[in-house]
Amino acid sequence: MAVDLLLGLQWGDEGKGKIVDVLTKNYDIIARFQGGPNAGHTLEFEGIKHVLHTIPSGIFHPNAINIIGNGVVIDPIILKKELDNLQPFNLDLSKKLLVSKKAHLILPTHRLLDAASEAAKGKAKIGSTLKGIGPTYMDKTGRNGFRVGDLENDNWKEKYRSLTKKHESMIGFHQVEIQYKLEELEAEFFDAVDTLKQLGFIDSEQYMFDAMKAGKKILAEGAQGSLLDIDFGTYPFVTSSNTTAAGACTGLGVAPNKIGEVLGIFKAYTTRVGSGPFPTELFDKDGETMGRVGNEFGATTGRRRRCGWLDLVALKYAVQINGVTELMMMKGDVLSGFDTLKVCTAYQYKGETISHFPFDVNESSLQPVYTELDGWDKDLTNLTTVEELPENLMKYIEFIEKELEVPIKIVSVGPDRKQTIHR
Ligand code: GDP
Ligand code: IMO
Ligand code: MG
Repeated sequence: MAVDLLLGLQWGDEGKGKIVDVLTKNYDIIARFQGGPNAGHTLEFEGIKHVLHTIPSGIFHPNAINIIGNGVVIDPIILKKELDNLQPFNLDLSKKLLVSKKAHLILPTHRLLDAASEAAKGKAKIGSTLKGIGPTYMDKTGRNGFRVGDLENDNWKEKYRSLTKKHESMIGFHQVEIQYKLEELEAEFFDAVDTLKQLGFIDSEQYMFDAMKAGKKILAEGAQGSLLDIDFGTYPFVTSSNTTAAGACTGLGVAPNKIGEVLGIFKAYTTRVGSGPFPTELFDKDGETMGRVGNEFGATTGRRRRCGWLDLVALKYAVQINGVTELMMMKGDVLSGFDTLKVCTAYQYKGETISHFPFDVNESSLQPVYTELDGWDKDLTNLTTVEELPENLMKYIEFIEKELEVPIKIVSVGPDRKQTIHR
């Protein structure tokens, strides 16, 4: 049996949570492989809207096992809040939610270091979610990290303390004022660790290997998006993990030849939250309309998301790096009512027209080249079949498929589970 992947192809918030929830009925196991509580994955069903940060989006399905893999960084405090929010659903979380012993923990001082690093950068700040992601992955690659499995040692607080002490001295290096009361942060952290310890800690790579052997179907759920990948994104305005397909191999211990379908998810337009280049960003009425109709506010930080036209150059780059086999187009309903839709099919770059994503993506060196398509007026949110989709939407879909050379298999027309059209 292979592991299928579901990955965001833009700058995150493509609608991964919704689609994982829709697809979970076809899988036995849903596994997160990278990122941490910088993610905000939204699910909607039966009138309930739910945002998950660390817990995989298959959690509401009675029979699915959900795994937090080794590549994920966990903040016990945020995880505890997520678990508390799930209380009313009576899910047997000690059985349904398993955590890799090799996943790293975000300590309170990682969050402080994130804040200090961003404050020191001033205008050049990344626009981090301030969840401690960067500093935690730095400790991981610096071989100083604190892992879930360490909590099984009786003297884990000694290791915790020596790391915290080091962090406190590092906060000073940034030469910015960061106010904090460590005892208060620590008390909350220790309390949350007690809750974390009630979950099953596993060797998740072995668990998944055995599950595959037993014929179980696994879906790996990406967080963030390909353009936030630490290697291939718009560096340095990226996150600190590999959000692309290869990240699923290292973040779960799945061999490359065990990867099955790669499901790539994108919005019918583009959004970005935080700083960094965004070639097709709009600063006009059209961008404002997308933000308002699409309710484009971050699910983790509540920040307004920047909006712009669909960028097929960037999308093609993401399709190539991930080896996408099927596409899913989200939020087509938000584009209803535009007379004309623009799609970026090339860039003007240093006096040349190019059709690849270059090293240096910034507004001064790069201008989008647009192809215009006719819009549609029809409200899509109540539609359930492909046949009902307006002709110009079908032309939009076919144009994208031709450019990307991958079929669009799902068209999402609203946030609810039911507002999903399969092709
Ligand atoms: P994720 O991080 O990729 O899981 O995406 P987010 O949850 O951060 O952001 C996607 C937002 O769009 C959420 O508020 C979803 O409820 C919403 N959404 C998902 N699909 C659709 C859709 O097809 N149409 C509309 N209007 N909203 C959608
Ligand atoms: P989901 O999984 C959108 C962005 C931040 C910032 C940059 C680095 O919901 O799609 P970090 O906190 O990782 O140091 O922030 O990455 N970012 C996201 N943007 N969706 C996300 O996750 C994001 N996770 C991080 O805004 O620009
Ligand atoms: Mg999100």
